[in-house]
Amino acid sequence: MAHLIALSALCFSAALASPPGQASKLLPTGLTTTSYSLNRDATTSNDGQYGQSAYASLWASITYNTSVPFTTTASPTPVVSSELVFPPALYTPCPSSADACISCYKLPKDFIWGVAGSAFQIEGGLQQDGRGPGALDTIGSLPNTDGLANAEVSNMNYYLYKQDIARLAAIGLPYYSFSISWTRIVPFGTVGSPINEAGLKHYDDVINTCIQYGIKPIVTLVHVDLPLAIPYENPEFPDALLYYAKQVMARYGDRVEYWATLNEPNIGYQNRATGGYIWDAVPNILNGHASVYHWYKEVLKGTGQITIKFANNLAVPLDSNNPDDTRAAIRYQDYILGILGNPIFLGTQYPSEVLSTAGVNLTALTATKLAYFNGTADFWSFDPYTAGFATSPSNGIDACAANTTDPNNPYCVINTNVQNDGWLNGQASFAYAYIAPQYVRQQLGYVWDVYKPKGVLIAEFGFNPYMEFTKTVEAQLYDLERTYYYQAFLRETLKSIYEDGVNVIGALGWSFQDNDEFTSYDQQYGLQHVNRTNGLFTRSFKRSIFDFVDFFHEFVEK
Ligand SMILES: *[C@@H]1O[C@H](CO)[C@@H](O)[C@H](O)[C@H]1NC(C)=O
Ligand SMILES: *[C@@H]1O[C@H](CO)[C@@H](O)[C@H](O)[C@H]1NC(C)=O
Ligand SMILES: *[C@@H]1O[C@H](CO)[C@@H](O)[C@H](O)[C@H]1NC(C)=O
Ligand SMILES: *[C@@H]1O[C@H](CO)[C@@H](O)[C@H](O)[C@H]1NC(C)=O
Ligand SMILES: *[C@@H]1O[C@H](CO)[C@@H](O)[C@H](O)[C@H]1NC(C)=O
Repeated sequence: MAHLIALSALCFSAALASPPGQASKLLPTGLTTTSYSLNRDATTSNDGQYGQSAYASLWASITYNTSVPFTTTASPTPVVSSELVFPPALYTPCPSSADACISCYKLPKDFIWGVAGSAFQIEGGLQQDGRGPGALDTIGSLPNTDGLANAEVSNMNYYLYKQDIARLAAIGLPYYSFSISWTRIVPFGTVGSPINEAGLKHYDDVINTCIQYGIKPIVTLVHVDLPLAIPYENPEFPDALLYYAKQVMARYGDRVEYWATLNEPNIGYQNRATGGYIWDAVPNILNGHASVYHWYKEVLKGTGQITIKFANNLAVPLDSNNPDDTRAAIRYQDYILGILGNPIFLGTQYPSEVLSTAGVNLTALTATKLAYFNGTADFWSFDPYTAGFATSPSNGIDACAANTTDPNNPYCVINTNVQNDGWLNGQASFAYAYIAPQYVRQQLGYVWDVYKPKGVLIAEFGFNPYMEFTKTVEAQLYDLERTYYYQAFLRETLKSIYEDGVNVIGALGWSFQDNDEFTSYDQQYGLQHVNRTNGLFTRSFKRSIFDFVDFFHEFVEK
């Protein structure tokens, strides 16, 4: 049975960093704080570099044509018992002999389990309380593909966060991973620009509300939503990231134990429009991440843990007897993980498969830089939603890698989810993910063996069933496919721990509610449904959230 009562408030046994009053002495001097309010007509007045007019100008290229339905923080309403009725019992077939022992495996007491979300994808209220525009606003302000609403509205979590946290507590989830919006804290994004106190206050209360409800916050500094003026390739990126990170870590460092600097930057330097790579972004990402790590440990003297969160859907060789396919799979992993993973986890150079490719414009890192990057993550953190296959292009990897005009250059790997025998590797979703639990142990084992981290956090995993949004609400809530995905994935994770010796330290489901999957509300990954038409954005638990919680109640050591 799932525990349906809020856990009692948490007491941290030791402070994780100095309290905000003391920590603020470590911040740059001469900081200015402001409170902007967006008046789009104010762009012509001349009130200085960081005046209201300059702030309005930041927004000039972005127009949201949906206004937010309300602008005050809602008090949490109690989760009524009728919402906490356990769904019909799952039919459990007899375990196969290979699985018979799973019931004797346990996850450690301190296993980090819970759910995840990200600021831009749930908050709405993007033009409220002095937030500056971010790069995602350029897509968020477009009418969404489903035409329902745009990112200015989203899930209205900016005003409903108390309720959202109360719901996670009511269902019995101990960890909530969320991200902070950089431009709510530093509206202009740049070093030396003003700090928005309203933004700092907001996340202060998000964190305090978590703690009040007995939920431990896990905080990501940047979940894709970079300031408009500071893409990864901007040479100012590392300093601007550190400037922002200092504000946040000095303010919240005493209450947050787990931090991630950047979410999936390892796909952030792939140009979505062209499919090419923005190589200048790579050293900036490394420098920015490492500078935050060093500042937190050496200046703030924080005792929490810091990581960087990678995207990775493992590719296994399409034909494991074919050395070209094995090379293609390793090359895939080198491109997606090795470029950032080698320097950060091993202190070693970019992969030779990458550096030796014509068309790759990366300068080998110096020994000094490698020493600075080495060890700047306390544990491995990644989002292994699914797995697929890699094979080499028909003209071979070498011919492709030597030819900058080859259509597959510089990557030179072909990915597929169709096995050599013609079958898909798993049940298809509404996007790229397949339910392919047969590869979970390899996914976890690969990063454990190659990057030798102290621990591995599954920072996101989840499934969006095909066209879930077209079903009746009742049918959306009875989401057995999602339950199957989670249970199969987690059972294989237990085997990874017990049979393969991988130190998996936690697993966080994506997402705690249906959200804005970067222009679409139809891509539903949520463990909760959100009603977008009743004006209240009412959340409802899907059956999968009960089954998810139940799994951990069965397997986490008491
Ligand atoms: C929002 O903008 C889009 C694109 O300009 C337009 O098609 C749509 O009608 C607008 N909606 C409203 C409510 O103004
Ligand atoms: C990276 O740091 C670890 C831990 O301090 C050390 O053992 C290892 O030798 C370093 N790697 C390199 C390549 O210097
Ligand atoms: C490679 O990167 C450097 C520095 O970022 C840039 O100046 C140069 O134009 C790039 N070369 C190519 C061929 O793109
Ligand atoms: C490089 O690739 C282009 C495009 O596929 C092709 O036309 C050309 O012949 C290739 N060059 C060599 C040397 O293979
Ligand atoms: C949203 O709520 C309204 C009012 O309660 C209800 O009629 C409608 O079916 C709900 N729609 C969805 C998609 O939840």
